[in-house]
Amino acid sequence: MSDQDRFPRSTLGRWPTPLEEAPRLGAALGGLKLLVKRDDVNTLGVGGNKLRKLEFLLGAALADGADTIITFGALQTNHGRQTAAACAKLGLRCELILTAKVPQHGEAYEQSGNLILDRLFGANMHLCVDAEESGTTYDRLVAEAEAEGRKVATIPVGGSSPVGALGYVAAAVELHEQLAELGIERARVVTPHASGGTTAGLAVGFALLGGVHRLDIACVSHPAAESLADLTELAGATAALLDIDPPAFEDVHISDSTLGGGYGVPTDEMWAALRLFGHTEGIALDPVYNGKAAAALVEWAGAGEFESGDHVVFLHTGGLPGLYGYGPEAAAALAD
Ligand SMILES: Cc1ncc(COP(=O)(O)O)c(C=O)c1O
Repeated sequence: MSDQDRFPRSTLGRWPTPLEEAPRLGAALGGLKLLVKRDDVNTLGVGGNKLRKLEFLLGAALADGADTIITFGALQTNHGRQTAAACAKLGLRCELILTAKVPQHGEAYEQSGNLILDRLFGANMHLCVDAEESGTTYDRLVAEAEAEGRKVATIPVGGSSPVGALGYVAAAVELHEQLAELGIERARVVTPHASGGTTAGLAVGFALLGGVHRLDIACVSHPAAESLADLTELAGATAALLDIDPPAFEDVHISDSTLGGGYGVPTDEMWAALRLFGHTEGIALDPVYNGKAAAALVEWAGAGEFESGDHVVFLHTGGLPGLYGYGPEAAAALAD
């Protein structure tokens, strides 16, 4: 099996993250054998899925001599917050280009949640109204760095490049080993999908492991057809980096049935899923990513998508600070 060790890597997290049984939630979902993989739990920057990608992305940046990191996201980007924390730890300058992509306004969304943590971790924040402004801001920051003799590494939205996806190739192996310790040979893995590095890395990792585990993908950003095209391309490029064949996606389970009004737009099903996870297991989810993936899990369990022998793993990718960006809506939705 090819390994990721030949790629530069900066240790940012503690691995493995916990894999926990969720019996009360499983019972509420009709007797599902449910585990939760806690990628939300880590010490740096309050944790989350981007730490895995950033280990490889920032490892490559440091190997290349970079001292300035530029990356992008929505105002409440978890990726930006974890990049800011990782840069603080590694002594890198962090420039966050944040664009108002979500039809969400008010003090909580525009000033709280991840934005407070970005400031706390010392990032330089550049708030932009649209893609055009973020493009000109990027050009300006690169020019300024050049003029000052700094070397820039640019990380794409969500850290979803083939190098970033290596973090989730490693996660697939980690999860496989944890499942094996529990005597579980095959599992269904439910995961949110946005910029795609998480699912692409898992798909490549699972293919390397012989294709025993299956992905159940909930689209939280783009419609399913577009997400599948992105995923196929990114997984192919990640496999190419590892000199292996691209994974097949012919019969992959990918759905946008809980996407609702689009990326970052709350739905009733999402709030209900947040409540269910909280009330049964004391697990906190965010409204943008895991809330909608959890709504998909609820929908799929109710529709008989899982067979009685299936072991289902819900991949919790983090994002809790984002809940506070939706504070007033959350307070109203969770009131009774
Ligand atoms: C909390 C959380 N979960 C899931 C995702 C989606 O991961 P990916 O962008 O790799 O598809 C993100 C991405 O921003 C995220 O912040």
